[in-house]
Amino acid sequence: MEHAFLKCYPSVFVVGREYEILVTAKTNGIICVRADGEAYYEENSGVLSSEKSYAKIRLPQEALDAAKAYEIVFRETVERKAYFSEFKEEQTARFAFKPLIKTEDIRIYQVADVHYHFERALLTARYFGEDTDLFVVNGDIGEVETEENYFEVCQFVGELAKGKIPVILARGNHDARGKLAERYTDYFPCNGKATYYDFRIGCLQGVVLDCGEDKVDESAALGGADLFAPYRRKQTAFLRGLDFGNGDFSFAVCHISPVTTSYWKERDYIIEKDVYADWNAELERLGIAFLLCGHLHKAIYMPPNGEYSLLPHKYPVITGSAWEGEDFIGTAVTVYNDRVEIAFTNGALQTVEKHILRR
Ligand SMILES: [Fe+2]
Repeated sequence: MEHAFLKCYPSVFVVGREYEILVTAKTNGIICVRADGEAYYEENSGVLSSEKSYAKIRLPQEALDAAKAYEIVFRETVERKAYFSEFKEEQTARFAFKPLIKTEDIRIYQVADVHYHFERALLTARYFGEDTDLFVVNGDIGEVETEENYFEVCQFVGELAKGKIPVILARGNHDARGKLAERYTDYFPCNGKATYYDFRIGCLQGVVLDCGEDKVDESAALGGADLFAPYRRKQTAFLRGLDFGNGDFSFAVCHISPVTTSYWKERDYIIEKDVYADWNAELERLGIAFLLCGHLHKAIYMPPNGEYSLLPHKYPVITGSAWEGEDFIGTAVTVYNDRVEIAFTNGALQTVEKHILRR
C-alpha cells in the first residue's frame, strides 16, 4: 500500500457497539479519523498524542456504517513544546468501508496461529474474496518482543482486511509472552485494559474471551511473570453480567477453548476446570451458536460433548487453524437463516472439511 505517511493499512476492529480504528504511521504525529463529517481522536484526557506513531481511535458504528468510508488525517510532529508546538501540514488518506448490514448469507473468515507465516495465511484468507463480511483474527499471529513485532501484526491485519472489512481480534497466549506483552492493550483492541469484551455488529453479537496462558501461573515456564487466575475469574463475573436478550444470532471467540483446552489429556494444559465450567454455564445461558478457537494448530470440529470435551458443553467448538506442511488451513463460516456452514479451507481455496449446523 502506498500512502506516504502510513506504515500500513489501518484496521477497523469491533469492540462493544463501536469501532476501534488502529492507525500506524511511519513517524510520530497527531492522528485523526474523519467519518460522516466528524473528527475522532484517541481518547487521552484532552491531550492529543503526538510523541508516538500509532493510535487506536473509537467511533460509533453508525457513523462509519452511514459514511461507508473514512479519512485518516495526519500531522507529523516537528516539535512538541510547552508553547507554540509545531506540526507539519495535514496529510490525508481515504479508505472505503464495508458495513455488515445484511441479515443472511453472512461470511466470516477466521485465521489464528499464523505465527509469522503471514503470506501463507493471507493466501488462505482470500477464500470469500470481496464477499467477506467479517474477519476473526484469533490470536498467536506474531510475537511481542519489540514494538516492531506489534507493527508486523498491524501490517498483517491491514493486508487481510485492507481497512475495509471489520475485524474481531482476540489475544492468544503467545501475545501474552515476551518483553512487550505488557503493552498489548496500547496497540490492540480492548475494553479499557480488558482483552475480553462483548461485541455487536449488524445482526451478529457475541463475546471475546481470553484464557491468557495455557499453563497455570505457578508453572516454572512462566517465571512468575503472570497473574491470569484472577483475570479469568473477572471474566466469569463479566459473563454473568452479560445479556443477549434480543435473541439475535451469537457466537464466542477465544484463542484457547475453555472446554477443550488440550487434546493431550495427559499434559499440563488442562487447567482451571472449575473456572472454565463457570464460563461454559454462562456461554450456554447466552445461547451461543458456536465457539471459535485456535491454539491447537489443528482444524477440528468438536461437537457438543464429543471425544475432545473436557467439560460438558452444548455448543460445538470450532478449532479452526491448522498447518499441513506449508499449507495453512483457516475457517470459513457462513451464517444463513436456517443453518451455519463451517468449512475448513486451504491456501488453494479448497474446502478440506465441511460441517452444517442447524439453527
Ligand atoms: Fe496458542
